[in-house]
Amino acid sequence: MAFPQAFLDELLARSDIVDVVGSYVQLTRKGANLFGLCPFHSEKTGSFSVSPDKQIYYCFGCKRGGGVINFIMEEENLTFPDAVRFLAKRAGLEVPEEEGDREAGRRRQRLLDLNREAARFYYQLLQQPEGAAVREYLARRQIKRSTAVKFGMGASPDSWDTLLTAMTQRGYTKRELLDAGLVVQNKNGRLYDKFRNRLMLPVVDTRGDVVAFGSRVLDKSEPKYMNSSETPVYSKRRVLYGLNLAKKTKRPNIILCEGNLDIVTLHQAGFDNAVASMGTALTVEQTRLLSRFTKEIVLCYDNDNAGKIATERALQILNNSEFSVKVLQLPRRLVDGEYVKQDADDFIKFQGPDAFERLLSGSENGMEFRMAQVAAKHDLSSDEGRVAYCEEISGLLSTLENAVEREIYTTRAAEAAKITPEAMKLEVQRAFRQRTRQEKRAELRRDLNPAAALQPHERTLRYDNIRSARAEEGVLRLLIKDAAVFPDTPPLTEEQFSSPLLGRAFTLLWQQREAGRDPSIPLLSESFSQEEISHLIAVTQQPESLSNARQALADYIRIIRSEWDKRSGKDAVDPLLAATEKYKDKKGIGGKQHG
Ligand code: UTP
Ligand code: MN
Repeated sequence: MAFPQAFLDELLARSDIVDVVGSYVQLTRKGANLFGLCPFHSEKTGSFSVSPDKQIYYCFGCKRGGGVINFIMEEENLTFPDAVRFLAKRAGLEVPEEEGDREAGRRRQRLLDLNREAARFYYQLLQQPEGAAVREYLARRQIKRSTAVKFGMGASPDSWDTLLTAMTQRGYTKRELLDAGLVVQNKNGRLYDKFRNRLMLPVVDTRGDVVAFGSRVLDKSEPKYMNSSETPVYSKRRVLYGLNLAKKTKRPNIILCEGNLDIVTLHQAGFDNAVASMGTALTVEQTRLLSRFTKEIVLCYDNDNAGKIATERALQILNNSEFSVKVLQLPRRLVDGEYVKQDADDFIKFQGPDAFERLLSGSENGMEFRMAQVAAKHDLSSDEGRVAYCEEISGLLSTLENAVEREIYTTRAAEAAKITPEAMKLEVQRAFRQRTRQEKRAELRRDLNPAAALQPHERTLRYDNIRSARAEEGVLRLLIKDAAVFPDTPPLTEEQFSSPLLGRAFTLLWQQREAGRDPSIPLLSESFSQEEISHLIAVTQQPESLSNARQALADYIRIIRSEWDKRSGKDAVDPLLAATEKYKDKKGIGGKQHG
C-alpha cells in the first residue's frame, strides 16, 4: 500500500494544486491565495480557497480542506492509492507498484473470482431439482426465465454447507469465504453458509464484477432480505442494484426504487433504466456514480411514510445539484374498501406498464412534490389554513437559488393560497431575510462563544478537554511552521494528548521530521479520514506567531502536561474504586479516552 516517499515527493512536485484544482474549479487570485466556488457544497459566493504556498485547499464555508491528493480523493470519489494513480497518470509518472499493493490487488481479485464462482453455482442450482422451490417462487412473482437470466438470479441450497464444500473444493480458503461474506462462523467456531434456501440476487457493479449478493426468503419468514455485509470488494454506499444494466438504457433518466424486485419487474416491463438502493437512503457516493450515466433522476419510493421520508432525504442530497430530479408518486390501491400502499412491482402487476409510463411522463419535479406535501398539511379552504400555508411555503420557496424557478413556484403557491403573486413574493422575500438573519445570528453566537468556536466542525471529533486541545493544536502548528524550535526527542508522548486525533497527527508529523522531511498535513492523507484531514488543515490555518516560538512551545507543553497529570492522577485517586468491576467496565467502554 505504501508508495515510496521519493515517488510521492515527485508526484506532489509535478501536481501543483492550483493546476489540478483549477481544472475543476474556476479560481481567481486574491492576494496570496486563489478563490472559487466550493465544489463540495452549494454556494453563490466563493469561500473555497487554494494556497499555492502551502499546497492546500480549504473551504471557509463547509470547512473541508486538504492537499492535492485529498482533493482528487473527494472530487473523483477515489481511495488514496487510486487518487495517487490518477494524479500519476495526469503527471505522466509511472507508479512503482509495491509488492504489498500487488498482494492486496490479488486478494481483491480472488474475492471477486470467488463471488463470480458462487453466483455461477447458485445460478446452476436454480436449473436443477434443488432449485424447484425458488423456480416456483419466481413463477409466483411472475418473473420470466429470461429476466432471471438477465439478472443472473440463482438459488441457494437448503443446507448448511453446500457452498462451503463446493468452493473449498475449487481451492478457495475458509478465510476467503469468510472475507467474501459468503460463509459465517458460529459461537463454537463452526463455519456455515450464510445464504440458505433463498432466491439469490447477485449485485453487479458497473464494471461487471459480482461484488455482493442480495437474497430473499421464499416464504413470510424473517429477515425477508439478507444482503452481503461490507467486504473488501463491497461498500453498499457505493453500489446501486441494477445499474450494471440500467447504464445501457436508451431512456433519458434513471428511476430509483427501494426494492430489488421492484426493479426486476420494471426491467421486465421495459423500464430498463431502474435501479435500487437496496433499502438504504440515497448516498452522496451513489449520486456521484449516477452522474456518470444520467442528468435526470426519478425517485420512485414507496407511497408510505417511510417512502416519503426517504424521498425528502434524497431531495435534500440532490438539492441544487446538477441533476434534474422528479418524483414519481405511486397511487394507493383500493383493496376491500381500504387504500393500501403499493410499490412499483405491485403497480406494474395491477395497472400495467402503460399506466406506469403515464406516471413516469407526468411525474412531478422535486419542488412540486415538496409543495404538494406542504399543501396537504393545511386546510386551504379556511383563512387560518391559508395563512399557515403561506408561512410554511414561503420558507421552502426562499431556499430556491434559481430566480426563474423561484418566480414560477411562487406564482403557483399564490394560486394555491388564493392570494396575489405579489403578496406571495413579499412573503418569500421576508422568509429569505429571516433565514439569513438567523444564520448570521448563529454565526455571531459561535463567534461570541469561544468554547464552541474552538470545537472541531465535525461532531464526532469533539474535544474532551478544550484547554489542553488548544495547546495541542499550537504544538502541531509550530511543528509545521518552525520545526527547528523542537528538541531532538519528542517533548510529548501521544498519550499525553487529550485529543486522540491531534495525538496521532503529532506522532506521524514527528515521524516525517525524523525522516528528514518538512512535516506537512497533506502528506498524511492516507492515515486520516477526510473529516480528520479537514480539521487538521483548519487547525494549521489558525494564526500562530513565530516571534517567540520557543516560549510558546514551552507554554503549550506545560499546559498539556499539567492537564495530563490531572487526568492520570484522577485515574489513580481511589484504588478501591478502580478495583470494582463497574469501574473496569466503564474503562473498557471508554476505550482510549482519558478523563
Ligand atoms: P421492501 O420490504 O419494500 O422490499 O424492502 P420489496 O422489494 O417490496 O420486497 P418484496 O420482495 O416485494 O416483498 C425494500 C428493499 O429493502 C431491502 C431490500 O433490498 C429490499 O428490496 N431490505 C428489506 C433489506 O435489506 N432487508 C429487509 O429485511 C427488508
Ligand atoms: Mn414489493
